[in-house]
Amino acid sequence: MNYHIITYGCQMNRNDSERIAGFLEKNGLKESLENKADIIFLNACSIRQSAIDRLYGKIKNLKKRNKKPIIVLTGCLLEKDKKKLSSLVDYVFTLEKIFSWNLPFLKEDKKRKTFYEITPKRKNVFALISIMSGCNNFCSYCVVPYTKGREFSRPAKDILQEVEGAVKSGFKEVWLLGQNVNSYRGEISFPKLLQEVNKIRGDFWIRFATSHPKDFSNDLINTIKKCKKITNYLHLPLQSGDNEILARMNRPYTREKYLKIIEDVRDAVPKISISTDIIVGFPGETEKNFRNTVDIFNKVRFDMMYIARYSPRVQTAAFKMKETVSPDEKRRREKILEELLKESNYKKNKKFLGKELKVFVLKESRKKGMILGKTEGYKNVIFRGSKKTLGNFVKLKIHGYSPWGLKGKINRK
Ligand code: SAH
Ligand code: SF4
Ligand code: F3S
Repeated sequence: MNYHIITYGCQMNRNDSERIAGFLEKNGLKESLENKADIIFLNACSIRQSAIDRLYGKIKNLKKRNKKPIIVLTGCLLEKDKKKLSSLVDYVFTLEKIFSWNLPFLKEDKKRKTFYEITPKRKNVFALISIMSGCNNFCSYCVVPYTKGREFSRPAKDILQEVEGAVKSGFKEVWLLGQNVNSYRGEISFPKLLQEVNKIRGDFWIRFATSHPKDFSNDLINTIKKCKKITNYLHLPLQSGDNEILARMNRPYTREKYLKIIEDVRDAVPKISISTDIIVGFPGETEKNFRNTVDIFNKVRFDMMYIARYSPRVQTAAFKMKETVSPDEKRRREKILEELLKESNYKKNKKFLGKELKVFVLKESRKKGMILGKTEGYKNVIFRGSKKTLGNFVKLKIHGYSPWGLKGKINRK
């Protein structure tokens, strides 16, 4: 029996899919291309309507195939989306209950206790390692507390063992993942966990996501500064630069507090690269409110911004708020931020010309013969090279740049 998994959503869902794959292979299934699969697993995401729309499109397409695959829907779904989609697929299963999924060919590997004890079949050149799941924050726009439930932290020793295993088998980049890693509550705190991971022998980089400004501690800042393997890169979602909107989003910090964190982080680690998430067009967001987000951009000069147009989701508190920003206006605000980012990065990237950088090699670029890697600060670098470098570090001499990244040449010494 051939299976194929299609993943929507964030890095954590990607990691969940790797565990699903590990579980299926224990049961004797073989991975195949989508069009050869007898059974297709859709690991879904309800975060925005666009992700659900794409899922609909995919199911429709799968059903057009001559030999129809069995379709299983699972993942990070709101009850309402689940109900709506259930008549279109063969099975709908709760991810965490994988050991009782009622499929006739699943017989092995049923003795484990939690989903996280499944050994993942890794699909990337980096190792994704979920350290916690769920969320207690209830930001007013967000589905995660409803799709994933309350916060749950994995035991530190399981995490350390998993990292050690990944590093031993050759992974040079490790991601510690959680919806909100600062509230990791294993036997030890998140900074302590990072310090322990940093002690694991080997030449590898540590990245982590996502941090919440609410409980961003000095302890964490010092840990980033002290620990050599932790990359100079921080993803710190702001969502809005306006205090009124932040309050209505139920994000318990102010723009002043956010700016202070950035200042402290940069004082401690001057070279750090900072990215963020922004939502434009939240209910009631006026031009004046939006300008405060623009203003924070101009102050911080993020290295990357993941900009989302607000999408109302049932069950969330914001769903009851009246939408005041039209789709066109959301698009316009998004575009303004995109342009600012482009301009700012074009200037920033120029400064890398002539420098030599250590780069982790990710994948083949869409441009023929070219390979894509990431710097420690998570900047894209493309270079001419061989697939053999995938998953390894290379030293590149930077000879070109654009708003979206750098161009490099392998330094042969
Ligand atoms: N835990 C992370 C974010 C997880 S969701 C945090 O606290 O920041 C990833 C991103 O999706 C969010 O940062 C937000 O920018 C975006 N997002 C979440 N819900 C959304 C919605 N209803 N509409 C638009 N964007 C949304
Ligand atoms: Fe969603 Fe907020 Fe939790 Fe992030 S912190 S997952 S945005 S509820
Ligand atoms: Fe989506 Fe769930 Fe991640 S809703 S963004 S897959 S936590």
